[in-house]
Amino acid sequence: MGCLWSCNVDPDRLIPVRRYRLDVAQVLNKALIMSRETIAHINLNALSHNLERVRAMAPGKRVMAVVKADAYGHGLHRVAQALTAADLFAVATFSEAQVLRRHGLAHPILLLEGFHCVGDLPLILQQNLELVVHNDEQLQVLEQFDWQQHAGLSLRRAWLKLDTGMHRLGFAPERSHEVYQRLQAIAAIQEVALMSHFACADASDHPLNAEQIRRFDAAVVGIDAQQSFANSAALVNFPVAHRDWVRSGIMLYGVSPTAEHSAASLGLRPALTLNTRLLAVHQVSAGESLGYGADFVCPEDMPVGIAAIGYGDGYPRHAKNGTPILVNGQQASLAGRVSMDMIAIDLRHVSKAEVGDTVTLWGDGLPIETVAAHADAIPYQLLCGITSRVEYRLSEADNAPDEALANAAHSNTFKVANP
Ligand SMILES: Cc1ncc(COP(=O)(O)O)c(C=O)c1O
Repeated sequence: MGCLWSCNVDPDRLIPVRRYRLDVAQVLNKALIMSRETIAHINLNALSHNLERVRAMAPGKRVMAVVKADAYGHGLHRVAQALTAADLFAVATFSEAQVLRRHGLAHPILLLEGFHCVGDLPLILQQNLELVVHNDEQLQVLEQFDWQQHAGLSLRRAWLKLDTGMHRLGFAPERSHEVYQRLQAIAAIQEVALMSHFACADASDHPLNAEQIRRFDAAVVGIDAQQSFANSAALVNFPVAHRDWVRSGIMLYGVSPTAEHSAASLGLRPALTLNTRLLAVHQVSAGESLGYGADFVCPEDMPVGIAAIGYGDGYPRHAKNGTPILVNGQQASLAGRVSMDMIAIDLRHVSKAEVGDTVTLWGDGLPIETVAAHADAIPYQLLCGITSRVEYRLSEADNAPDEALANAAHSNTFKVANP
C-alpha cells in the first residue's frame, strides 16, 4: 500500500499553505483559519514601565522584583529579561533560581524560603544565590556547614527574617540580636540583612500594620544592616516601611495591590491580556437555560456566544453570572457555569458578534481585579492559575493583543511556547 508521505505529487499543484489560508480568509469566516487562539499576550513594555512606577514610588530605594511562581504566571525568564533594571530577583524555590541562571541572568537572586534541602547548599553557593534564613534548622546547617571543604564558596547575603506578626516564616523578634550575631560569626557569609513581611498591608487601616512596624523597629535597634519590609501594598500604603529594599511582585504585573487604589490610578499597565475567540454564536429563546446545571435562564430571546476558554485554561470555575467579558472590545458578560473548555457569554449588549471574534477575559480594557472580584478570587490566583494549554505571545507593542492577533495569521514572530 502506498505511503501517504511518499506518494508522487506534482509540486506545481501544491497550494502554499499560507496563500491558501489567506484565500480562504477572504471567502470564509476568519475563525476557520485560526487555531483555538486562547492566548496570554505578555506586554514587555508594560513590565518595564511598571518597574519604573515602583521606583518612582520608592525613590532612592533598591527594588527586588518578585518573580516566583513563574513570575506570577507570566513566564519566569521572559519577565526577568524585561526587568533587568531591577536590583535583585526574588524567587521561592531553588529550581526557579536555576531557571534564571540557566538563562544567563547574572543579577543577585534571593531564595525567599531559603534552602529546603541541605544537599542543595553547595550548588546554591556556587550559583551565588542569596538566602532568607527563617528558622533554627537553616541557621544550624549554616553554622555546621564545612566551609573549609568548599574552599572559595561563600554566601553573598543572608536575609535574617523576623516574624513580626504574619506568623508564617521567621524568628521571633526577641531573637533578632542573637541570630544576627550567629550569622555574622560565620565568616563565609559576606553580609547579613534584615527583613520581615506584612500580613495586612493591603488594608491601610488595619492595626496590625503599625504593630508589625513597631515590633520590627524595636527588634533591630542597634543592628546596622540593610532592611527590607515592604511588599507592593506596603510600598503604596506605608512609605515608612520602604527601608533599603522594596519587594514588589504584583505591581510589576500591572495589578493594584490594594482595593483602595485602581491599577490605573497608580499608573500601572496590565502586563498580561488573556484573549480567546468566539467558537459559536446562537440565538437562544427566552426561558431556555445555558450550560451545566442550567444555572442561567435566558430572560428574553437573546444572542449567546460560546468562547474557547474554560477552567482547563485557568479561567476561574467560580466566576459568577455577570462577570464582565469584552467581545470585540465591547462589554459583555458571563452567562452560566464555566466548563472545562468553554464559557457562554451574554451578547445582548454587543452590537455585532461573529464566530472568530476576539474575546478578552482580562487585561487591556478589563482589569483583572474586576474579574477576580466576580469570582471570589484574587488577581494573584487568576494569574498563577493560567494553564499550560494557553499559548503565550510576547510583544513590545503597547497595543499588544490586537497587533499580535493580526500577526498571528501571518507570522510566528512573537510565538513562544508556554514552559
Ligand atoms: C516574602 C514576600 N515578599 C514580597 C512578596 C511580593 O508581594 P506582592 O506581590 O504583593 O508585591 C511576596 C509575595 O507573596 C512575599 O511572599
